[in-house]
Amino acid sequence: MAVTLSPGTGGGLAHDGATEFRFQVNGYPVSVSARATQRLSKVLRENLGLTGTKVGCDAGDCGACTVLIGGEPVCSCLVAVAQADGGEVTTIEGAASRSPLLDAVQNAFLRHGAAQCGACTPGMVMAVTALLERTSSPNENEVMDAIGGVLCRCTGYRKIVAAALDVNGDNVTELSAPAAGEAIGKRLVRLDGKRKVSGAEIFGADEMPAGTLEARVIRSPFDRARFHFGDIDAFVRAHSGIAGVFTAKDIPGENWFGVIPQYADQPVFAEEQARFRGEAVACVVGEPEVIETLDLKTFPVTWEQLPALASVDAAAAEDAHLLHSHRPGNVLVRGRVACGDVVAALAEAEWEAEGEFESGFVEHAYIEPEAGFARRVGDTIEVQACTQAPYMDRADLARILALAPEAVRVIPTAVGGGFGSKLDLSMQPFVALAAWHLRRPVRMVYSRTESMMSTTKRHPSRIRARVAAKRDGRLTAMDFSADFNTGAYSSWGPTVAARVPVHASGPYHIPHYRAETRAVHTNLVPAGAFRGFGVPQTAIAQEQLFDELANRLEMDRLEFRILNALDATTPTVTGQVLGDGVGIRACFEALRPRWIAAGNEAKKFNAQSKGPLRRGIGVAGMWYGCGNTSLSNPSTVRVGLKADGRISLHQGAVDIGQGSATVIPQICSDALGVALDRFDFISGDTGLSPDCGKTSASRQTFVSGNAAAMAGAELRRAILKLGNACECAKFMLGDAWLIIDDGKNNQHISLRELPLDAHGYVATGEATYDPPTKPLDANGQGIPYAAYGFGAQMAEVSVDIELGTVKVLRITAAHDVGRAINPTLVEGQIEGGIAQGLGMALMEEFFPGRGENLHDYLIPTVGDIPPIESILIEDPSSVGPSGAKGIGEHSMVATAPAILNAIHDATGVRIHKVPATPARVRIAILAAAADADRNIERRYSE
Ligand code: FES
Ligand code: FES
Repeated sequence: MAVTLSPGTGGGLAHDGATEFRFQVNGYPVSVSARATQRLSKVLRENLGLTGTKVGCDAGDCGACTVLIGGEPVCSCLVAVAQADGGEVTTIEGAASRSPLLDAVQNAFLRHGAAQCGACTPGMVMAVTALLERTSSPNENEVMDAIGGVLCRCTGYRKIVAAALDVNGDNVTELSAPAAGEAIGKRLVRLDGKRKVSGAEIFGADEMPAGTLEARVIRSPFDRARFHFGDIDAFVRAHSGIAGVFTAKDIPGENWFGVIPQYADQPVFAEEQARFRGEAVACVVGEPEVIETLDLKTFPVTWEQLPALASVDAAAAEDAHLLHSHRPGNVLVRGRVACGDVVAALAEAEWEAEGEFESGFVEHAYIEPEAGFARRVGDTIEVQACTQAPYMDRADLARILALAPEAVRVIPTAVGGGFGSKLDLSMQPFVALAAWHLRRPVRMVYSRTESMMSTTKRHPSRIRARVAAKRDGRLTAMDFSADFNTGAYSSWGPTVAARVPVHASGPYHIPHYRAETRAVHTNLVPAGAFRGFGVPQTAIAQEQLFDELANRLEMDRLEFRILNALDATTPTVTGQVLGDGVGIRACFEALRPRWIAAGNEAKKFNAQSKGPLRRGIGVAGMWYGCGNTSLSNPSTVRVGLKADGRISLHQGAVDIGQGSATVIPQICSDALGVALDRFDFISGDTGLSPDCGKTSASRQTFVSGNAAAMAGAELRRAILKLGNACECAKFMLGDAWLIIDDGKNNQHISLRELPLDAHGYVATGEATYDPPTKPLDANGQGIPYAAYGFGAQMAEVSVDIELGTVKVLRITAAHDVGRAINPTLVEGQIEGGIAQGLGMALMEEFFPGRGENLHDYLIPTVGDIPPIESILIEDPSSVGPSGAKGIGEHSMVATAPAILNAIHDATGVRIHKVPATPARVRIAILAAAADADRNIERRYSE
């Protein structure tokens, strides 16, 4: 792949007003021609080709662009290139040339698993390097101060802190490949880690062919509006350098896309009416320097603002307009699971609790905004972009462009965080359409504001539930209903509506159960997939109500959960008996020692506290089905033996930071019996690898891992067949040779003399795995998932009852992952999920049209994340690869309810709407105090 400019060539932005600037970069003198006010980050990336410096916000909020100037860390997006003139700049690429310390920090990040997606990693590495250049042995507080301005959305920061404190320390992961057959269970350093810590990883904005045009999108400024275009031709004529403008009428195929084909409804460009603020109506494409400075307000479009539906209540009103005429009541879809007789069971309830809970939009806030380019190659189109779902993108793009799927090649770049939102198309249709028509490469890099304004969010929810138990503490019934605001288009709304009723019971046996859900359209940004598909919102309601019930029963809250926990023989609410791999009781029991100790510490603290601080502890359980709900979701993996004796692994599971590019090879390596250092890895490029499905629903370790194990075993059989040897034989690979030893004969085979198969290999193993599920009936009875992961988390918090502020002091998390294929990566998922759960509990709420930046929309920084203890439980699933189940989404489900239960324990107030901001906590405390006063008055007046 060609890049625009090679390092050190300069001049890419040369235009009127450009000046020559000279400074040192990584020890080498450079000279660039640029506007004096051009951002240093842009000059480094585009003039000098040093794309290791990442750009997450262009506003000084994320720290991804941190470089050193004169040894001091600075956000290079806030530095004008003129300010660097004559100075000395060090970037992440400077490891070898400038600083052995930088090299050591990168290695420490590798050893500790401190990089996941890698988008923040260059900034983190530079910030830590700067600290270590000042202080050779910093303490934890100094490290936290040093990285306090760099945001990470993946790791939960703990492994980054550990790496910074251990730059010259011992390995905690294995840097070299384990021996054949010994990869599973090893703390192997992530196979793509070196690229991430060195800045060599290629993300969506990091590469483009020479001569690439730039695209910008015209978006609706209103939640709902009719619009009319003016004279677009005159607009183009008036701006030299504009190559084309595209609207709905330029789409050769169908003007819609969507992740679930039967519900797909989102136009590439709105026609006549925009249904949410930020919806695309047109795209302007031209020379980069023209497009960059183009005032989009001059684009000829007039808007007529229309009344908009801003809430589920408004959308469900009888006189509400319909966003989609075929969806009465603006209801996209409903979900239902029911068993037993919930009405009778509630009528007979001995103890019960009920409540209503709400949550708002939550922004994914990955550090890498959406980016990529497209180019036409003859009568095919290639799209290189960050995505979680290359084959799904391919299908949608083919339909939009009226091409056969094979005429569309999707080349996924590294993904700088996705968490579900990069499952949906974003910039891809715009660049593909423009490149198709213009026959020139076109790229697009979303600004942070554009990313937050237009891409999917976590569904806002309103949940009502009533739960009941017998006097002995056994749960008898649950009646649950939930509305999810799915925004203007369907995206993953059907998945949320279907998954939530299955999971609303939590990991408990409840014989009488009814859960009903609706996904409702509003004139707001589409809500989609976000780590957990509605289950984190659900757990906030369900786990708080179970806490209430335990309190009313005067039972210990942990023991109440242990009493009711599912086991391998009890049916779930869909009537499924799992038979094995149900480790929830073990998870709760693993928390018990800390639960008892922390409870005593909190009581003691509160008894002695003379100030406003109160301590509390909370616990919550979770379960989560791996893969699609009752739907086929196969993965296919191919692995081939090359004539040079090396192994090619085609696994198309996109690694969005979670580690599939390491875990799946570990599984395949053991199944094949060949050490990983003989493997070469082929990406999820749809032109090169078969379909591993989307990276979502915690399915890749389980589904693609199974396919990898089967493909590895298949290749092993094929290799042995080359010598007509039995399956009990052993083999060894060398450079272009193969030795097969069946115990009697020792065959030496020259691989280069063997014919190649249709895939170009000496031997190939290819396998497809599709989890064995069964459709759900009208009452949601059936087998929605072949395997579930389980977990339990406890939170220890301190609440300032005068200010309403909450500090999480510690999280202990026990997760049943079946088999930890790579314990370091599993811990990374747990810590990262906890950080997102903490954000959801205490600080994150997205308001469309407000705060579309990382300054106003707050995500946890390192200072917000407490120590986290991860406890790995391995209760294997008979259908998982080596027993493994998923962990990606599981890790955040229990965090928010555990924190909210701890707030209640500390203060006696129940938070019904997240996030539990200081204002909400304080208001709840004041309301509880007023209630208490009224009760006293009532008692005296009686
Ligand atoms: S890109 Fe510079 S701080 Fe975010
Ligand atoms: S690893 Fe930090 S943002 Fe992904």
